[in-house]
Amino acid sequence: MKFDLTEEQLAVRDAARDFAQNELLPGVIERDEHQKFPAEQVKMMGELGFMGMMVDPKYGGSGMDSVSYVLAMEEISKIDASASVCMSVNNSLVCWGLEKYGNEEQKQKYLTRLAKGEIIGAFCLSEPEAGSDATSQRTTAEDKGDYYLLNGTKNWITNGNSASVYIVMAQTDASKAHKGINALIVEKGMEGFVVGKKENKLGIRGSDTHSLMFQDVKVPKANRIGDDGFGFSFAMSTLNGGRIGIASQALGIASGAMELSIAYAKERKAFGKSIAEHQAIQFKLADMATEIEAARLLCLRAAQLKDQKADFSQASAMAKLFASDVAMKTTVEAVQIHGGYGYVKEYHVERLMRDAKITQIYEGTSEIQKIVISRGLLKN
Ligand code: CAA
Repeated sequence: MKFDLTEEQLAVRDAARDFAQNELLPGVIERDEHQKFPAEQVKMMGELGFMGMMVDPKYGGSGMDSVSYVLAMEEISKIDASASVCMSVNNSLVCWGLEKYGNEEQKQKYLTRLAKGEIIGAFCLSEPEAGSDATSQRTTAEDKGDYYLLNGTKNWITNGNSASVYIVMAQTDASKAHKGINALIVEKGMEGFVVGKKENKLGIRGSDTHSLMFQDVKVPKANRIGDDGFGFSFAMSTLNGGRIGIASQALGIASGAMELSIAYAKERKAFGKSIAEHQAIQFKLADMATEIEAARLLCLRAAQLKDQKADFSQASAMAKLFASDVAMKTTVEAVQIHGGYGYVKEYHVERLMRDAKITQIYEGTSEIQKIVISRGLLKN
């Protein structure tokens, strides 16, 4: 089994690291505090090819593999998880879904600009009463011949205000349960589509999370992805890949917190020596490093399976389940290592701790990942 990264993959990692250090680090504390979306930085990420990393260059993408995507997500998430969730949703849930399941006209019209980062996308599945229980869609898309009449509310939508293109799951035929759900491409500005309130969140505060309202929005039939009733399968299949993105985000939050902890432990003195010379701190660092390495391997393995076009649904669920727990545990310990300094904003670790929590919740809670994993185990 080969674990070596190629020259090209290493170059992507270095480019993401440089970008994160030079462009995301300055201002990250302020953006977090004021809930400011990193618009300029996301634009630069598009120019660098990070917004459509795995998309074929003929549709404006960078034509890279999923392993490179994991590496870039880790580096960007070390510094700014608000920027990386925007990147993850655009890459995994929007671009990947459109490239795999969209028709040629949809790819030309939407994917090309999304992959270049000229515009960004949002994925709209969650509702006030349909989070984990995603088949219970209340948003309706009534079939009116050559268009769908869309009505309902979506909640906690990443890129909710900054997106231009929204992939919206909605129920067309309730008698068919989840097989009656469609995935529709909705454009900002369509009559009856209103961006609702922005959420005031614990973490990833720079990410703009909104509720969305649809009131008699006429969505052309040409904007349906796949056949009639394909929407739920579309969402599940896309989320399998999305979970690699969020697992890598969790990995980056953890490894960022560990890097900060190592640097701080070498500098900070207590009882006549650096705290790094105390075994209590050394053991914390050793645990962090071991768990982070295991999380990294799970992320890379899921990405490798995806690149090999093998079934990666269980692998991505395992990567997300494990990496998000590692992110939470590592960031709590990082704050502990930093002591009083860890509790204030200037040292970054309290933000990473707040950002870590969402990785156990979005794109399927940890409990949902366990459902996906155990169903995979028991199905044969
Ligand atoms: N991959 C592919 N297909 C899947 C799947 C997977 N991981 N999980 C379920 N399916 C398919 C099933 O095979 C089934 O298809 P068929 O009927 O054709 O056989 C269909 O989906 C329905 O599945 P179930 O009968 O198992 O339905 P369920 O209601 O018992 O469970 C669930 C489904 C797995 C719990 C699903 O509802 C789920 O994944 N929930 C979590 C939703 C989620 O992840 N939301 C994240 C929101 S997006 C987000 O967070 C983005 C962001 O902002 C960062």
